[in-house]
Amino acid sequence: MAIQDVWNRLRQFDAYPKTLEDFRVKTFGGAAVTIVSSIIMITLFISELNFYLTKEVIPELYVDATRGEKLKINMEIVFPKMACAYLSIDAMDISGEQQLDVDHNIFKRRIDKTGTPISEAEKEELGKKEEEESEKKEEDQKEEKKVLDPNRCESCYGAETADLKCCNDCESVQEAYRRKGWAFSDPSNIEQCKREGFAEKMQSQKEEGCEVFGYLEVNKVAGNFHFAPGKSFQQHHVHVHDLQPYSGGKFNMTHHVKTLSFGMEYPGMENPLDNTKIIDVKGSSMFQYFVKIVPTTYTKLDQSITRTNQYSVTKHEKQVTTSFSTGEHGLPGVFVLYELSPLMVKYKEVNRSFMHFLTGVCAIIGGVFTVAGLIDSMIYHSAKAIQKKIELGKAL
Ligand SMILES: *[C@@H]1O[C@H](CO)[C@@H](O)[C@H](O)[C@H]1NC(C)=O
Repeated sequence: MAIQDVWNRLRQFDAYPKTLEDFRVKTFGGAAVTIVSSIIMITLFISELNFYLTKEVIPELYVDATRGEKLKINMEIVFPKMACAYLSIDAMDISGEQQLDVDHNIFKRRIDKTGTPISEAEKEELGKKEEEESEKKEEDQKEEKKVLDPNRCESCYGAETADLKCCNDCESVQEAYRRKGWAFSDPSNIEQCKREGFAEKMQSQKEEGCEVFGYLEVNKVAGNFHFAPGKSFQQHHVHVHDLQPYSGGKFNMTHHVKTLSFGMEYPGMENPLDNTKIIDVKGSSMFQYFVKIVPTTYTKLDQSITRTNQYSVTKHEKQVTTSFSTGEHGLPGVFVLYELSPLMVKYKEVNRSFMHFLTGVCAIIGGVFTVAGLIDSMIYHSAKAIQKKIELGKAL
């Protein structure tokens, strides 16, 4: 008796009182609304499910407290109008000292006018270039050894200094001129250069382009690296490029940055300079890229961490007159000046909340069901009203 009572009381809480099956009417309008609303429901459910299955990436900002890390600069840049023989690559850090000890893997590859490679990639030696070249030359000169006295002492054309009294090849004459701060303007008058075919070598490559690719590993402090025509050297602690023997006019510093990044890739990484083509319209232009590097870590769902960097960049361009350029008025070339941001961004991948997904699904089902019910009853009642009017019209 008491149990029956409880049941009856409980029944009062039913928010869904049922009507008897017999009083229900099934209409075509209702069927159409049901089909349409089911399609809508399924579509919304699928989109909600898709959203749930993607990962959420949460960015956070920190002050960069990491120390002593290296910065890896990956690059692939094409200079369609600059021959490899003309182009030199240097890297310097904030102290202004040339970085002779950076770990690098930069290669240069000669390309022809159409952009097809015409030589094997050659490793570029920053700073150490001279020794290597003179080694190569020694090999080249092996056949000439019979003709040339190894103990000879040739003229430096007035540029002799205390520690460089003899200039036995074109390279040393250039070096002597450099030390004096003289312009090395006319290699055709210099015996050593004529013998080595210096001018011919320069001439033969005049029409070529150069592709530079590889990576540099530098200290994580502000610095710069640049691609500029001419041999670089230090003069009174100033970084100077000797342009004269190469020039004969203008340099076309048109360049195509295929990729430039500062570290490993992470999902969704964007490098603003990738695939940019810059045309040097006036010739002998100086392109400066001011790069702000933002250290970034990316933590995947499996907790693997990628330490890398993003960057933003602003570009500055100006035309410079080529002469024995000391950099005062600028130097034709492509200069990348980078700085590090003190703030770092941490990205973290997380799964989306299952509870949110559930809430979403309920909202979709309930919402569509309710709205469909409203539409259905509207259709049903207006149909009924119209029918009534027609009947009335017939009766009259
Ligand atoms: C440099 O080369 C580019 C592309 O090859 C060309 O469009 C541009 O006019 C050249 N600039 C000069 C100054 O010759």
